[in-house]
Amino acid sequence: MSRRFIYLFLITPFFLFANEPMVKVDNTFITKYEYGKMLYTNPRGIGCNTCHGNDAKGKKIVSFTHTYRKKQYECDLVAPSIKEADYKVFSKKINSKRNPSKKFPKEQVCEKLIYYANVMPTYFLVEEEIAAIYYYVKNLK
Ligand code: HEC
Repeated sequence: MSRRFIYLFLITPFFLFANEPMVKVDNTFITKYEYGKMLYTNPRGIGCNTCHGNDAKGKKIVSFTHTYRKKQYECDLVAPSIKEADYKVFSKKINSKRNPSKKFPKEQVCEKLIYYANVMPTYFLVEEEIAAIYYYVKNLK
């Protein structure tokens, strides 16, 4: 083994992970960022990235025409950006169904339809997992 290689081997991990918290998963330590990334794309269910995008900035899933009371509406089903959501919204949304008391004004036909369609699945993640996803989404460039 060359001296240069040994040098890289010793120094690199500290250099990479200098300011990052580590978490224990099974028997190995990985960074919270890596753990969050893993859960974001594979959270025991459909990956968050499928709808919110790899950058978590949201994306349009589909456009469709909806007829309601003989009027046509052009609707866009959009998964919103989740980079700005605060932790409370985040942790509540992931493990719970929609807020049943939410009200929509008459003209928000598309919004209401999409909201009640419950597009986003309900997950069963523990607090530590949600915190890791949140950390990843916030630190994602
Ligand atoms: C099948 C598509 C889909 C998947 C998969 C999905 N979401 Fe969503 N998500 C949505 C849609 C659509 C909304 C907006 C409508 C709503 O609130 O239900 C939403 C809303 C949210 C919100 C609320 C944003 C706000 O500001 O109110 C958060 C936070 C969120 N998702 C996080 C996640 C995380 C984390 C995962 C993975 C564990 C995930 N989502 C997986 C479609 C999805």
